[in-house]
Amino acid sequence: MLTLGIESSCDETAASVVEDGWRVRSSVVASQNSLHAEYRGVVPELAGRAHVEKILPVVRAALKEAGLSLEDIGMIAVGHRPGLIGSLLVGLTAAKALAWTRGLPLIGVDHVHAHLCSPLLDVAEGEQPQFPALGIVVSGGHTSMYRMESPVGLTRLGATIDDAIGEAYDKAATLLDLPFPGGPNLDRLASEPEANDRAFELPISRINPTSLDFSFSGLKTATMMAVRGDPQGRAAQRRQASELPHNVRRDIAASFQRAAVEAVLLKLGRAIDANPCRSILVGGGVSANSRLRAALLELGATRGLDVRLPPMRYCIDNAAMVAGLAFALRATGRVDDLTLEPTPTTAC
Ligand code: KG4
Ligand code: ZN
Repeated sequence: MLTLGIESSCDETAASVVEDGWRVRSSVVASQNSLHAEYRGVVPELAGRAHVEKILPVVRAALKEAGLSLEDIGMIAVGHRPGLIGSLLVGLTAAKALAWTRGLPLIGVDHVHAHLCSPLLDVAEGEQPQFPALGIVVSGGHTSMYRMESPVGLTRLGATIDDAIGEAYDKAATLLDLPFPGGPNLDRLASEPEANDRAFELPISRINPTSLDFSFSGLKTATMMAVRGDPQGRAAQRRQASELPHNVRRDIAASFQRAAVEAVLLKLGRAIDANPCRSILVGGGVSANSRLRAALLELGATRGLDVRLPPMRYCIDNAAMVAGLAFALRATGRVDDLTLEPTPTTAC
């Protein structure tokens, strides 16, 4: 069964053809990074307009890359939540039009759930991870953990009570005067060989001794104080990152990255203690982070767990994860119709 997946929830226009839920035949992503760079963040109206321009070329490119035509496709999948409404609408309208004109089943997919299942792509049946698993999504909009009985059976264990980890990365990058997109640039600066990740003691949120929720707003504020100076300190308060020597900016980045990654590891450790599992599935843009990836693999080795990280191409937003998950949902009997709506929030 060949599924055509469409994704347009934020600032990437993507289409993909996936066979039997795991074999990726093509994955095309048109990024809008250069469009939003001067604003250092995604401008919803610009994103929606760019999706309109890109959606059909991207769908055509995905079919071409797979060496297929629309006649070969058996199902249409689309990310319809969560995201920017104007952006979601473009992908959803294209998906509905394709499903209706070809008489194909339409499956709406939750983007957060799709990230969670992105490590299952390109993994043959005999090599898929064992369940129950613990799932963690670390993205620009979400930071949540789940108990997974199967790829489609999720129970949320915890989530951020304020900012998502990717949002904190992007804010910290802006404070450090790094270009958009912030996360990867901060990762690069923090990974310089001379970086001292203990130069600044930035807070690792615990919330309470048993909480499985996350909080990144305190880390964000502490990073701002590290850049601008002591909150009580008068003149220093107005200090900008551009006035700081490179080694100080680098050490702030490294200290931020250490605190952010340790916060994830702390809560993941608690979740594993409370929910025995066989594997850990990780997804979302921040799963591309070099330090987080290394720390998760180390955690897996220490705790004897099978940690599955998506390859870099499936960390960022893509449509292969949407098509892959739709196949698993369809197998449970799920099908949507033309009343499917774009929704700003996740259902996971
Ligand atoms: O999953 P994603 O593409 O979009 C959402 O669903 O939110 O995640 C985007 C987020 C951004 O905040 C971006 O800065 C972050 O992922 N990101 C990273 C890295 N690569 C992307 N954060 C830290 N280190 C990276 N290497
Ligand atoms: Zn995403």
